[in-house]
Amino acid sequence: MTAPREDGSAAVPTGSSRSSEPSVPREERVVPMRLQKFLARAGVASRRKSEDLMTAGRVRVNGIVVTELGSRVDPRVDVVTVDGKVVHHGDGHAYLMLNKPAGFVTTMRDPGNRPDMRALVPWKQYPGLYPVGRLDRDTTGLLLFTTDGEMGNRLLHPSHHVPKTYEAVVEGRVVDSALDPLREGILITRHAAEEAYARPCAPAQVELLSSGPTSRVRCTIAEGRHRQVRYMFGEIGHPVLSLARISFGPLTLGDLEEGCWRELTDSEVSMLKRASDW
Ligand code: URA
Repeated sequence: MTAPREDGSAAVPTGSSRSSEPSVPREERVVPMRLQKFLARAGVASRRKSEDLMTAGRVRVNGIVVTELGSRVDPRVDVVTVDGKVVHHGDGHAYLMLNKPAGFVTTMRDPGNRPDMRALVPWKQYPGLYPVGRLDRDTTGLLLFTTDGEMGNRLLHPSHHVPKTYEAVVEGRVVDSALDPLREGILITRHAAEEAYARPCAPAQVELLSSGPTSRVRCTIAEGRHRQVRYMFGEIGHPVLSLARISFGPLTLGDLEEGCWRELTDSEVSMLKRASDW
């Protein structure tokens, strides 16, 4: 019934009617995904249990029973049913992480035409995708994206204190005691006139990794004030030369290469949801 595709997976009939091409323009279509992943995303069951539903003949795509586990669907055009009930992909959200390179502004569309996030993440394939918080243009590292506005807002809400860890290369030979003001909660005097910096930063966890003509410091903060880490090190007389975010809440970059993105795994999404729970 299903014809194999070039990648070895089985194709399923596409579109609202099997004989016609999908009405959604090709460039706006979501990358076809495995049917069991589609079902898990939509909250029907875990991937494993979704496979069981498929092999039991309970899943149809565009009216045709699909039992082959490699089958793929395009969530924008294929109609998937389980036991006759339509499953909406929109019930599930997209969650991605990007290892951001320097030189890109954290916005989906920069009015000033600077390189923005559209060059780095598959925004056409995930309508409504947006960055969770921001990294400065020259900061690299872990940046989350989602279509789930509610979770994005929760993760950024100050009451959640989601910790973010950065590695900074700073000017000068740092001695450990110079970091104590950051550990105690430092007032950014040069910006104290601004509302966001009127009160001291919350105590940060800071670890000196290496010291020399330039030094490397790991720093974990749970706040997200504008340019906060740069201001903190500037305040103690060690301006930041480069800054990379290596973790966000329970998530770490792992071996994701700079400039690359990947979808979060189901367990990463669950961990993130727990981290954003009030
Ligand atoms: N703090 C900064 O100073 N810059 C970032 O990009 C993130 C945190």
